[in-house]
Order: sequence, then structure tokens, then C-alpha cells
Amino acid sequence: MGKKFGEMGMDAEIVPTAGAPVVLGKWRKSGGGKRRTVLIYGHYDVQPAEIGDGWTADPFEPRVINGMVVARGSTDNKGQIFSHMMGVAEKIKAGGPDTDVIFVVEGEEEVGSDNLEGVLRARKEELACDVAVISDTNMAGPDKPTLTYGLRGIAALEVELTGPSHDLHSGVYGGAVVNPITVLTRLLAGLHDEKGRVTVPGFYKKVRKVATWERKAAKDLGVSDAEVRRQAGSPALAGEPGFLAIERIGMRPTAEINGITGGYQGPGPKTVLPSKASAKLTFRLVPHQDPKEIADLVEKDLKKRCPKTVKIKVVRHHGGFPYFCDPTQGFGPAAVRALREAWDGKKIQYLLEGGTIPIVSVIKKVLGVETLLVGLSLPDCRAHGPDETFPIEYLERGAKMNQALLREIAEV
Ligand code: BES
Ligand code: MN
Repeated sequence: MGKKFGEMGMDAEIVPTAGAPVVLGKWRKSGGGKRRTVLIYGHYDVQPAEIGDGWTADPFEPRVINGMVVARGSTDNKGQIFSHMMGVAEKIKAGGPDTDVIFVVEGEEEVGSDNLEGVLRARKEELACDVAVISDTNMAGPDKPTLTYGLRGIAALEVELTGPSHDLHSGVYGGAVVNPITVLTRLLAGLHDEKGRVTVPGFYKKVRKVATWERKAAKDLGVSDAEVRRQAGSPALAGEPGFLAIERIGMRPTAEINGITGGYQGPGPKTVLPSKASAKLTFRLVPHQDPKEIADLVEKDLKKRCPKTVKIKVVRHHGGFPYFCDPTQGFGPAAVRALREAWDGKKIQYLLEGGTIPIVSVIKKVLGVETLLVGLSLPDCRAHGPDETFPIEYLERGAKMNQALLREIAEV
């Protein structure tokens, strides 16, 4: 990637961190003046993939099938960041893009971007910019150019319960000694009420009230509950009453159990009373929830509800703040014009995304600028899943959008 930036005629640098390195690519017009600077962020790391997960071939050997690139990372996030590189590369050949450009491509997005904040802080002056641009989100659907104006945040933790000091014969001790799996499943089941609302005291206290136009925009997306159900391949949808599925995803916070472990998992039965049980949990957050505060509330609630029969340990993992930016303000309208141009005048959709890009709120905090989320992925691209895809056509669309966007930003 560093090499590619060099070939494009940019100043390339690979910045080491305590984890995966960050790749920078800069293009500045000499003379300076009042030119704007746009920071374009992406990530080169991907979710793990193995052929056994359901891939139809080696996930790391890209294939082209029916106009789609099939490979791990094709949409999340290599195809999307590459389209911006194509747009800038073409402009550099023609004398230069309409703004100065700084590419920041990191390798730890999928694990919380823990080391990028330090790089942003250490190089605050060098990375100074007017606005950030990220294509790492979904469009509402094919041919539905989308400006994402908010992201959910995240708080991740793990809970481990220990009952007896070692695995026991369930016939010899069962009935007298507590089973930590039973305790854990009760604790986890208690995270939601019958209606699907999170029960952790104080959880909803800071949730932003959405505006009327946002609920209208969500309806206008034209993404029906049936469509969400189809994409998910689920027998029926669930969730808080009073919201469309797409609203539950973008506007409401959640508690999710991502994995649960304990006891015997091998073939056939085994009469064991296990010593330990554990679960991995994530909470998707909306403005103005704070990941640390939510983790505190959850830890407190789990510990309070946990009976004396087991020992409880809660481990904190990554956190990321939610994000919201009014699309009618700042460079939002410039993004709308650029999207419209790249998609031949199609109607622009306004979306609140359910996923998280942890660095977006950090960019705001450290560099003081908003981020334009102009994603090129489709809900059907199977990000994080087997046979992840990216439409080849969207490379050109993305390059065109990049050029239009830099021009619009320069002209604001
Ligand atoms: N590109 C996604 C964010 C995203 C998810 C956008 C869904 C649109 C729809 C990003 O690469 C991602 O997967 N982020 C992680 C972050 C987490 C590990 C801190 C996520 O949302 O789970
Ligand atoms: Mn991802």
C-alpha cells in the first residue's frame, strides 16, 4: 500500500505502532495558499477468514464472479479505499486533485483502532485537515447513493463465572453445587425484558432523541422489514416495538451476546459439572451514550445480579463512541452533490448505520473535524462473512465520487 502511494506520486510513509502499522499517503500542491485538505481514511485489516467458514475457494485469492470481486476484504475495506486511490491517482496524472489529500490507512479497525489515536495525536499538525472522508459503510441498496450521518458506538466486555474450583462429576455433586452455566444463562437472559429492551439500569439515560425528519428519512430508505429479514435469512425479526427494523439497527442501542462457552462440547454426552462458564458481550451505542459509562453500568448490573454461589470476573475490551453529524451542515451538502453526480442524479438516501468505525469520533476529538461517510458497500456484500464481494463497477463509481467530492469540497 505504501508502495502504491509512492507510485501514485504521493509522499508515502509507513508509521509503526505498538500493533499494526499505519500507512500515510500525502499529496500537497506546493505554494499552499488557501487550499483545503481532505483526510481520506480506510483500513487494510480484515476479519479472519478460513475456507471452512463456508468460502467457495481460498478467501485470500481474489476471484471475479459475475462482475463481483470475491475475497476477504473486497468490500470491507479494500475495494472502497482503493476506489478513492483510483480517483486521486487519475487526478494526480492530470495535474493534481482539487484539494490537498492525506490518506490514512490503518490495520487495526476490526479490533477497535487502539493504536491509531496515538498516531493522530502525535501528528496532529501534519494531519490537519478541513474534513475527513470515509467509504466503509453500506449504501441503502443498489443504485441508492447514501450519505451516512451517524454510526453506532460499541462497548465490548467478557464475563467469566467460576463455580467449583475444578470440573466435578455431575452425579456426585450435582444438585448440591451450583452449575456456572446455569447462572450465566440466567444473567445473560436478564439483559433484555420480554419486549427486547435492555434492562441494565441507566442504559437508555443518555440516548439522543431522534428528530422527525430522521424517522421520515428512515422510511424513505425503502428498506422494508421483509427485506431485512430476507438479507438476514432469519425466520422472523425481533426487537423493540414501535420501530422499523432499519430504525432498530441505526437509532437504538443493543446488548448482544457474541459467544458463550462452558462445559463439555465434544461428541456424545459427558456427565460433568463444569467449573467455569464465560460469554463475550458487545453493546452497540447511540449518541450520546459513552462506552466507558455503559461498560461500568453493565459490570455493576452483572455483579449485582450475580449470586454468591459463583465468582464473577468482568474483563473490558475495546470501546468506540457513537457518531452523529447533521448532513445539512458543513460539507454535508457537498457530499450530497458529489454522490448525486457519481450516481447519475439518483436520489440521495440519509442513513444511520448500525455498525461502528471507532476512529470517526476520535478524528472529531483529536483533529476537530467532521467525517463524511460515503460508503460504497451493499448490504448483500457479506462483509465479515464467507464469499465477501464488491461490485467491480463501484470502483469506477467510487473514483468518480472521490473526484466530484474533492472538487465540491474545494468549492464550498
Ligand atoms: N465497515 C465496518 C463498519 C460497518 C459495519 C459499516 C456495518 C456498515 C455496516 C467496519 O469495518 C467494522 O466492521 N467495524 C467493527 C468495529 C468494531 C470491531 C470495533 C464493527 O462495527 O463491528
Ligand atoms: Mn469490518
